[in-house]
Amino acid sequence: MCGIIGFTGASQAAPVLLSGLKRLEYRGYDSAGIAVQCEGEIRMLKATGKVDTLIERYGQDRQMNGVCGIGHTRWATHGAPSDINAHPHMSMDGLFAIVHNGIIENYAQIRKELIDEGVKFLSETDTEVIVQLLMKYYDGNFQNTVLKTLSRLEGSYAVGIMCRDFPGVLYAAREASPLIIGLGAGENFFASDITALVSHTKNVIDLDDGEVAEIRSDSISIFDHAGRPVEKTERHITWDVAAAEKNGYEHFMLKEIMEQPNALKATIDPRVRDGRIVLDDLDLDMSCYDRIMITACGSAYHAGCVGRSVIETLCRIPVETELASELRYRDFVMDEKNLVIVVSQSGETADTIAALRECRSRGATVLAIVNVVGSSIAKLADHVIYTWAGPEIAVATTKGYTTQVAVLTMFAIWAADRLGRIEPEEYSEMVSALMKIPERAQRTLDLNARVRKLAKKYHDRKSLFFIGRNLDYSSCLEGSLKLKEISYIHSEAYAAGELKHGTIALIEPGRLVVALCCCERLFDKTVSNIQQVKARGAKVLAVALESNRRIFSEADDVLLVPSTHRLLVPIVEIIPLQLFAYFVAGFNGCDIDKPKNLAKSVTVE
Ligand code: M6R
Repeated sequence: MCGIIGFTGASQAAPVLLSGLKRLEYRGYDSAGIAVQCEGEIRMLKATGKVDTLIERYGQDRQMNGVCGIGHTRWATHGAPSDINAHPHMSMDGLFAIVHNGIIENYAQIRKELIDEGVKFLSETDTEVIVQLLMKYYDGNFQNTVLKTLSRLEGSYAVGIMCRDFPGVLYAAREASPLIIGLGAGENFFASDITALVSHTKNVIDLDDGEVAEIRSDSISIFDHAGRPVEKTERHITWDVAAAEKNGYEHFMLKEIMEQPNALKATIDPRVRDGRIVLDDLDLDMSCYDRIMITACGSAYHAGCVGRSVIETLCRIPVETELASELRYRDFVMDEKNLVIVVSQSGETADTIAALRECRSRGATVLAIVNVVGSSIAKLADHVIYTWAGPEIAVATTKGYTTQVAVLTMFAIWAADRLGRIEPEEYSEMVSALMKIPERAQRTLDLNARVRKLAKKYHDRKSLFFIGRNLDYSSCLEGSLKLKEISYIHSEAYAAGELKHGTIALIEPGRLVVALCCCERLFDKTVSNIQQVKARGAKVLAVALESNRRIFSEADDVLLVPSTHRLLVPIVEIIPLQLFAYFVAGFNGCDIDKPKNLAKSVTVE
């Protein structure tokens, strides 16, 4: 999704903006641009394609001397990716420039109104209406003009605005799109997220919906749409630049796969004291709820599917899962006896936010499992448990996913204990297995070289299946998505027992079937399915527990993962599938960290 950045200080703005845009690349984009206040005018530079192209143009041009500017990476919504549609956009009179992330829902109506008044639009974007409105309402007072313009907008926005008449002054405003203010020494910033700013400052203010900031090099003022001042507190970021860089890895995705043992440790260890799960600040009376609903999108939804089985098994409460993009538009039944668990790495996914709001409006209590501190979902929920995975840059989530599963599992143990539904032996057994999970993940990563070989063997397949049962099936969903999103190879996850209800018709000689057989209770059942597909000529790559060597006589290739508690298996068995997707994509020459058409944070519908 679009990324925005703004800078005002004493040094040259363009290099700061360009390096910030490089760090925002991971969000997904198709064009980029910057605007800088130079010698009494606003100058813009834009490029379709990569930020590197923009940097090249800047290198050739260098006409952008100035200490205050704004920048943008655009993920096209209204109008194709092009230099004209790229942000920043400028008002017809050259007075204002703007960058915007979000969607202005009433833009068509405003555009018509302005065209009728003689305004000439250059781009097809919804954003351009904002900058032309600024021109229309300008009365010599920057703040009044911004507030009047914002009052006309419906939809979502994080905007950064500059005016030629006000050197060194930026305005930023937020409504349902992420935006933070970065506080430096003699310089200040705004950005869509901290990765763009972390090399400059670790002190930030999170802007909330309905808030507007005036940013100068030596001051920040925040107020609401009525112009009333708003008191905000500063937040200090604990991770450093290295966390947002590749540290010698070829791709962020591989770095993040390899970081999983540490991310799991950081998520689990602080929450286990004297053999007990301690979820500080989680003040929930579990006896109030007769149903749990887990809602999320993409991989976070798959983590929710694992969570459903684990919570239901331990807590004996009915648990449902539903895709947030479906739930938000369904006339569903929910009341105050329902606990809704919302799962999101970014905390900014538009569909998940909308589903959360729908659930709250029906009286449900919302518990969010989120990675990004201070994100929209963290703010909107009644309760939050953070996954401490650190920044995740690759579009394909890996450590985000496994830490979500870890938190859902910890929540299940904690809740089952509160409800008096877990025996002390099982409680201790699970906590001790949980504590060992980082080490199990580390050992699973030893499969790296073997998975690479298998990826080389199978990378040219055009279509494949992932099969498994129960928890294995949830991991199939995630393994299949990983492969699809970064290698563009068609794959489907199938509950193994469903094969004979249709899909087996697609099994033909040479078809690759990845069979997950880590669910010991159902091992023989899945082996029957392996035999059925093998009888029709399929090649089978099986993932099984190291304790289960029977698999060798059933499959063509085998990956053995370390044994653990049966409810924790999803955390280890997904790791070889992440590596498989990564290496297959690599052998196929794909842009692994920035797959085509995808964005890291899906902040629009
Ligand atoms: O930030 P979120 O966890 O809310 O994102 C949800 C999905 O967009 C995300 O998991 C997506 O499916 C990933 N690309 C999967 O790798």
